[in-house]
Amino acid sequence: MKLGVCYYPEHWPQERWLQDAELMRQAGLSLVRIAEFAWVVMEPREGQFTWDWLDQAIEVLAAEGLQVILGTPTASPPPWLCRSHPDILPVDAQGRRLRFGSRRHYCPNSRSYRQHTERIVTAMASRYGNHPAVVGWQIDNEFGCHGTARCYCETCARVFRLWLEAKYETINDLNEAWGTVFWSQTYGDWNEIDPPNLTIAEPNPSHVLDYYRFSSDTYVTYQQLQLSTLESLISERQFVTTNFMSQFTDLDYHDLAKPLDFVTMSSYPTGHAESRHSLYMPQSVRPVYAYDVGDPYITGFGHTLMRGYKPNRPFWVMEQQCGNVNWSMYNTGVRPGTVRLWTWHALASGAEAVLYFRWRAGLYAQEQFHSGLLRHDASLAVGYVDLEAMKADRPLMSEISSTPYEAQIAFLLDYDALWATQLQPHHRDFDYIRCLFVYYRALQRLGLPVDILSEDADLSPYKILIVPTAFLTTEQLAASLKAFAEAGGTVLLGVRSGFKTSNNQFTDHPLPGLFRDLVGITVSDWHSLPPGVSYDLNSSIPGLVGPATIWAEALNPADSQSGDPDLQMLANYSSGPFSSHAALTQYKVGAGLALYLGWYPNSPQAEALLAHLATHAGVLPLADLPDGLIASRRGHHLILLNFTEEPLTATVQGRTVLIGPRDVEVVKTQGS
Ligand code: GAL
Ligand code: ZN
Repeated sequence: MKLGVCYYPEHWPQERWLQDAELMRQAGLSLVRIAEFAWVVMEPREGQFTWDWLDQAIEVLAAEGLQVILGTPTASPPPWLCRSHPDILPVDAQGRRLRFGSRRHYCPNSRSYRQHTERIVTAMASRYGNHPAVVGWQIDNEFGCHGTARCYCETCARVFRLWLEAKYETINDLNEAWGTVFWSQTYGDWNEIDPPNLTIAEPNPSHVLDYYRFSSDTYVTYQQLQLSTLESLISERQFVTTNFMSQFTDLDYHDLAKPLDFVTMSSYPTGHAESRHSLYMPQSVRPVYAYDVGDPYITGFGHTLMRGYKPNRPFWVMEQQCGNVNWSMYNTGVRPGTVRLWTWHALASGAEAVLYFRWRAGLYAQEQFHSGLLRHDASLAVGYVDLEAMKADRPLMSEISSTPYEAQIAFLLDYDALWATQLQPHHRDFDYIRCLFVYYRALQRLGLPVDILSEDADLSPYKILIVPTAFLTTEQLAASLKAFAEAGGTVLLGVRSGFKTSNNQFTDHPLPGLFRDLVGITVSDWHSLPPGVSYDLNSSIPGLVGPATIWAEALNPADSQSGDPDLQMLANYSSGPFSSHAALTQYKVGAGLALYLGWYPNSPQAEALLAHLATHAGVLPLADLPDGLIASRRGHHLILLNFTEEPLTATVQGRTVLIGPRDVEVVKTQGS
């Protein structure tokens, strides 16, 4: 396993670089990412390139045996460029042209920006595309960050119309697909269509969904421009990737990942715990983990998402928190042992390399309060000290990183369904990604590895497939779920599945629409449940108790399945208007099973159900785990990570293993 760091040589006097590079090598680092925000230093005026400093920085790093990853600097177009081509600046949903002064201030459809992008990427790739110390490239930096995934400028409006024309071919087909007859929106010409912002009331959700898809496709083509430019100039030895954000949902990462060699992520455990805990977890769930380690379930969810964007390729953590961050609510300080724990966690989840963000805490500008491996005064910070402590772990880490992560359970993530539920949640708390997280956390607590995949992924290695909410339906998805069950798999279809067509219109079939054949039931009614309202549940599955909240659906055997012994009711409502109806059903399909869950489960319910399904499908947990202890397996290594302040024990294949607070134990297991 390789470790590395994000470095900004342009922030420090050249005399310091040598010492920095020496300290990096001494800490056991071998990768250094540089230059992703250094456009103006490379090209202070249009066409005047200054490469000396970058040549020199690469030489200094290479002399210490460090391998360099170059970032293309397009996340921060320089002032001269924004001044000479103001159309580069993006327009937000409020119709305001945003200004220069921070970063990500560009419209990915701007023709001049695309030209200048090609120019700077060509210049960099021509110079360093065969440099022996440069091992790879990171395109741009965190596409879509700071709310920039969707631009609403005139250029985007024009390109959107072309995108629509290519998709629908005739304006009538578009009118049909969007249902524009509603509120007199029928279009007579492509030019009448605008981006769906600044509308008086809610815009048409089919229109908005297409705008989200278009915006995501825009970044795919913008990334492709850079990728093609790089590929035409760089050596085959150099990889090309970009860095994704953990649990970011504005862009379709499946599409962005496809053409890359592998994906990388930014992982900031304490920042994400602060910003996401309240979204994901009901107030009643109190965290058991130490205050400065982040929520391991949220961190691991981010890792797992990354692993699934490019199945069969390990991911990298291109930015790993290594002290406090500066952008969250409290930006907690970090104590010794934490950075080592985070590094092990990434490895346990399938990472092949981890680079810390950043080398040294900056003295000026926006991120002054962000930590680095060195403090502001260049003394060694807590992360650097952890690297020293990790030296003893490194041989084992390398052994582990060469083995794959394997799971027998998968769930599907579909960005179209996610965006469509965002557009019409119907209940304030109906959140798609949170619904996924509930299942994810349940599986982690049960010690059951899981992959999160796209709908077109190869599902054959899995025994259980969970689709938390298949809100938008396609014939293709219905067919692939059916084939999975027929071949002996267990499919769990969650609440609100099959409600919509891929155009984001309501289905005119009885619910769950195209999935009815698969699950053998009809959803005869559905209720959104306001806070304080819940329907009680009864179930034969141990532990599957407690109320249905947020959303409930009344399930009945589909007409043809009435009295069919292959259809079983596994839970029913015991209070409220759906009292006589099922809440969870199971239908025998070929050699497998298809279940339909008619409510939005909470964590204990998801745990009880998944434990039951795993037992029946013969999927064994890795270990018996208390809360706050995470288990993961790569090859024959079982990795146990304790995120609490107390020693904890796990039972692994009948053996008790003790894991110290904020510590890691690796156990060799039998079988895989
Ligand atoms: C990342 C970003 C870095 C830096 C970091 C601070 O999202 O890519 O450039 O801003 O956050 O935590
Ligand atoms: Zn634009």
